[in-house]
Amino acid sequence: MSKGPVVAIDGPAGAGKSTVARAVAERLGCLYLDSGAMYRAVALAALRSGTGLDEPAGLEALAARADVTLRPGQGSVSRVLLGGEDVTEAVRTPEVEEAVPRVAGVPGVRAVLIAAQRRLAEAGGVVMDGRDIGRVVLPHADCKVYLTADLGVRVRRRYLQLRQQGRPADLEEVGRDLARRDSWDHAQMARAPDAVEIDTTDLDVEQTVARILALCPGGARRAGN
Ligand code: DC
Repeated sequence: MSKGPVVAIDGPAGAGKSTVARAVAERLGCLYLDSGAMYRAVALAALRSGTGLDEPAGLEALAARADVTLRPGQGSVSRVLLGGEDVTEAVRTPEVEEAVPRVAGVPGVRAVLIAAQRRLAEAGGVVMDGRDIGRVVLPHADCKVYLTADLGVRVRRRYLQLRQQGRPADLEEVGRDLARRDSWDHAQMARAPDAVEIDTTDLDVEQTVARILALCPGGARRAGN
């Protein structure tokens, strides 16, 4: 029996996906599943094991045996596990950030993680964010959203997020990083034809969440909570 809706939220880095997806999950009483964290966990495994980022066969084999999964944590948020080890914080380092687009670009790695993501969403009651969720991972999702925002706004949000986390950040460098990630991630960006695009350039988190809830089955009555 289904535990609730399946919501897919895609978009480029810095469009506000994770903040918004987490809030939508909370309002719907669903679990927030961060698919990017799974790619990050495989990248971490590659760095730890010394698997070359230019060795697709090695990376695919690693993904297949790495046992990457997401497990419910506090509230609506999930933790990412690598072989049973909680690596939720460990996958947020600059080294992983740098390595992950190359790992995510390997079709064999994607096949392993997409299968795992489908299993996680099988029972329903999930909000999953990523790049290819509505089109590839969960094409039968009840609600599909594609979040965008101007590059300048995405850069500023990312910069403020890093500063809030107490991490050193330089606006120009953040801009270069994001532009580089956009070009690396481009191949994985798969906008579903039936996704509703929401441009968040002039919207705050609450406004964006309200628009998504209005699109979700059972979400409208939770929009004002
Ligand atoms: O959203 P994020 O920054 O945590 O994603 C990490 C990397 O994984 C990024 O390079 C994009 C990639 N990714 C992907 O290819 N497909 C997804 N569904 C999610 C993330």
